[in-house]
Amino acid sequence: MPETQQLQFSEIATQRKRRFADRSASVGVIGLGYVGLPLCILLSEAGFNVTGFDIDQKKIDDLEAGRSYIFRIPADDIQQARKNGFRATADFSRLAEQDAILLCVPTPLTNHREPDLSYIRDTAAAVAPWIQPGQLIVLESTTYPGTTDEVLIPLLESGNLRGLKAQKKDAPGLADAFFVAFSPEREDPGNTTVARRDIPKVVGGHDPVATELAATLYEGIFNRAVRVSGTRVAEMTKLLENIYRCVNIALVNELKVLSLRMGIDIWEVIDTAATKPFGFQAFQPGPGLGGHCIPIDPFYLSWKAKEYDFNTRFIELAGEVNEAMPEFVVQQVAKALNRQKKPLAGSKILMLGMSYKKDIDDLRESPSLTIIELLRAECAEVEYNDPYHPKVGRGRHYNLNMTSASLDDLEKYDCVLILTDHTTYDYDDIVLRAKLVVDTRNATKGIRSPTVFRC
Ligand SMILES: NC(=O)c1ccc[n+]([C@@H]2O[C@H](COP(=O)([O-])OP(=O)(O)OC[C@H]3O[C@@H](n4cnc5c(N)ncnc54)[C@H](O)[C@@H]3O)[C@@H](O)[C@H]2O)c1
Repeated sequence: MPETQQLQFSEIATQRKRRFADRSASVGVIGLGYVGLPLCILLSEAGFNVTGFDIDQKKIDDLEAGRSYIFRIPADDIQQARKNGFRATADFSRLAEQDAILLCVPTPLTNHREPDLSYIRDTAAAVAPWIQPGQLIVLESTTYPGTTDEVLIPLLESGNLRGLKAQKKDAPGLADAFFVAFSPEREDPGNTTVARRDIPKVVGGHDPVATELAATLYEGIFNRAVRVSGTRVAEMTKLLENIYRCVNIALVNELKVLSLRMGIDIWEVIDTAATKPFGFQAFQPGPGLGGHCIPIDPFYLSWKAKEYDFNTRFIELAGEVNEAMPEFVVQQVAKALNRQKKPLAGSKILMLGMSYKKDIDDLRESPSLTIIELLRAECAEVEYNDPYHPKVGRGRHYNLNMTSASLDDLEKYDCVLILTDHTTYDYDDIVLRAKLVVDTRNATKGIRSPTVFRC
């Protein structure tokens, strides 16, 4: 941990720290998506002067009109933030006015499942010309260790015509340097039990002063900042957290497949194991991984590991098990229909839930998207219902033109397939009316019926 009392603060860094501590600072947030927009609201509530930057003009228009485009963020929150001075813009010259700039842009995989850093590179190129001495720039996007030091900083330095450099550990006190840190976003979408403020914020600077500046800023909106020794530790910490989740989900998914063959209820097993007060954390099996994080982030590390002649076997195996789950679900639907003497081809199937997890409106990488394709490849007739997605059009890896079906005529489907266990569904009623229910989430827990097939 850095020894804060021994740090050499330049005059300009001291001024910034004061502005972060008394919340008089101006903060720019780049990327107004699931991470960046809630961050703007938190900063704005805390009294900072916040400007959001994006290249998506529709998002800027919505925010400027006080509208929200993320389900869990009410329009009232946007309007309140606007009263506090929050503005959204595509005018990147306004970055020059900011004391701190927080980057929250996507980090997907390419079609060859390699890290796609194009959004970080584009953002760095857009930020570089406007950098000011003493400004703090923090990368929040999840990525492999080394991205901040090896990719972001060189782009910020080379694109900056005034020749400003990032403050480094071994050359402290550059009068006109800017400061760079990495601080991962740890939000858990849909989790209403942990307040965002209570999630400790990990901060690792390119130099110790950057760590301290970023920690001071985040302490204005989070109860605790966890200072670490550098950007790589902070980058790796985020990946460890997500790989831990990915591997454990793969483990319960594999044990689910085995338990089904053995006639054992895996969900009862997990609930029972969870009664142990130490050494066990419950993870839930499901139809496959989804979201912008767990199916993607581990492969950022696998890719980087190759540079060190290292094969990340746990990550590869977990990926293999989790990616096989949609196919497994389709086999189970075929099996369940078979028991009712029906073929999968030609059967009418209603999928419940398009979001990758319950009670949220995010369908990125959702297994439901894959399962639609697999069912259609077997000539099943597929419809879906999801209160969070009245329509599903086109995305990065899908091109559907579907509208959410009504739940009024459940009787007309040969099978109702539960893929996302949204709490708004009345599962007793669904089981009562459907001819067959295939449940991949244990949403029908406690309901006894010969027409329910849990898998
Ligand atoms: N969504 C989550 O729950 C979550 C949780 C933890 C970490 N993360 C990480 O946070 C990062 C952002 O994820 P997200 O879910 O908010 O993504 P998102 O797609 O919801 O939002 C990203 C935003 O960045 C904008 N953008 C893209 N390129 C830009 C550019 N060059 N300049 C300005 N804006 C640009 C997009 O228009 C979009 O509004 C990713 O690295 C992700 O892995 C996400």
